[in-house]
Amino acid sequence: MITYPITDKFKNHFISLYKHKKEELREYSSPWDYESGIHCVFIPLTKRIGVKVYREKYQVCGALKNQIRAFRHGIAPEYGKMFQIKVDKPINEWDIGPTTLYCHFTEIAQTLQEEVALDENNFPTGIEHAELCAKLKEINLYWVAEDLHRFNIGRIGNRMVCIDFI
Ligand SMILES: Nc1ncnc2c1ncn2[C@@H]1O[C@H](COP(=O)(O)OP(=O)(O)O)[C@@H](O)[C@H]1O
Ligand SMILES: [Mg+2]
Repeated sequence: MITYPITDKFKNHFISLYKHKKEELREYSSPWDYESGIHCVFIPLTKRIGVKVYREKYQVCGALKNQIRAFRHGIAPEYGKMFQIKVDKPINEWDIGPTTLYCHFTEIAQTLQEEVALDENNFPTGIEHAELCAKLKEINLYWVAEDLHRFNIGRIGNRMVCIDFI
């Protein structure tokens, strides 16, 4: 289980990282919604540890629960503690607020790069991907497997893992 100290200093720093990331996503996000995601904002903290941030409690709970199960089957990054941060002002001028960020720590996976061979649905071709889909189906994470395009997959060492669980 990934752990990381959540101090007041960390919280303030984290809110500024989140604001910065939101601005970056607004400016540079691709024409494909699914590249940067619509539920989760991902914030790397160290080489190994990152945070997945959601705006609704049910999303972080669901995502974490599924990641834990998949991790135990060897097809997800290691999971970390859930936490929430209250933000007393809107994140920026186009956001709602005050608000709460619902988060959990996670191990970072190396996301797949452009050179991966893709089929017409943007799914990587090849046996590894097929095996990952099959394992997700085996543990009843069907809809995750259906959404296993290249932005929802990563590598940890030589394992292919799913990184998006909601
Ligand atoms: N564990 C992780 N390691 C590395 N990058 C991640 C990880 N989780 C998410 N990301 C990055 O953040 C993006 C959005 O996260 P994702 O879980 O796919 O959210 P959404 O449900 O909004 O699509 C991913 O496409 C990926 O680039
Ligand atoms: Mg995604």
